Amino acid sequence: MSQAIKSVIITGSNSGIGADIARKFLELGASVVINGRNEEKLEKVRLTLGHEDRVIAVAGDVSDPETGKRLTQAAIENFGGIDVLVNNAGQFGVKPFLETTTEDLDQFYNSNLKGTFFTSQAVVPEMIKAKRGSIISIGTVLVNHGMSDAPVTGPMTSKGGIHAFSVSLAAELAQHNVRVNVVAPGIIRTPLIGEGADSFAPIHPLGRIGEVKDISDAVAYIAQAEFVTGTVLEVDGGYTHGR
Ligand SMILES: NC(=O)c1ccc[n+]([C@@H]2O[C@H](COP(=O)([O-])OP(=O)(O)OC[C@H]3O[C@@H](n4cnc5c(N)ncnc54)[C@H](OP(=O)(O)O)[C@@H]3O)[C@@H](O)[C@H]2O)c1
Repeated sequence: MSQAIKSVIITGSNSGIGADIARKFLELGASVVINGRNEEKLEKVRLTLGHEDRVIAVAGDVSDPETGKRLTQAAIENFGGIDVLVNNAGQFGVKPFLETTTEDLDQFYNSNLKGTFFTSQAVVPEMIKAKRGSIISIGTVLVNHGMSDAPVTGPMTSKGGIHAFSVSLAAELAQHNVRVNVVAPGIIRTPLIGEGADSFAPIHPLGRIGEVKDISDAVAYIAQAEFVTGTVLEVDGGYTHGR
């Protein structure tokens, strides 16, 4: 890994994909700030990750702009700055369009879209000062691939917003050498998908569902790919391109 990646913030890292992204950056020698709303789960993941001198846990809801500020402060105080932000915290749910409520939309917009927006706003001043940085947000291939049997207009409007946000922010921040990208997973085996995840294997031409390592490898690649910005990297076993 580039020796320059020393400090990484990962939101929503007390479970699933986020916890594995933390594991991956620790393996590569970086220090990590981990996050989630549930403090008990966060402490459990902190202990499981090991490397206690390189892991700081900051609990909080990313839809509150104060959480982004606390994550940023923790990275600066403990690890001297922020090289990479991974906006991973997210929520999902399947519900028909006509049954989707204001509360459902608030849930998706707050955690997924506002969380990504506010946490990025908190780290960007530090990245501009450092004249370098990488923001990677976890989107989804479902933004560009609707499914008649799994209605998801609610969460997709928030995830589509993350894709659009990243393309615009990449253009705005390129002059500061701050890169902004999206990793868009197919179906990945995590608590969000739950039991029976393997039944989704056939929708991926590679014939299996994704594992968290597939996503953390892609995030680590983008973090080090210094000529890549404004892109959406699909990590989906070929799902969006054919069956
Ligand atoms: N698994 C898939 O197939 C798949 C596919 C496409 C995209 N994704 C995306 O990948 C990301 C990770 O999902 P996952 O599958 O690993 O699910 P997961 O195991 O349910 O993890 C979601 C994480 O987000 C945190 N979170 C949710 N809302 C939050 C908030 N407002 N503030 C702070 N943390 C919050 C959760 O912790 P707390 O509940 O404790 O806050 C948890 O750590 C999500 O953005 C998801 O949309 C997943």
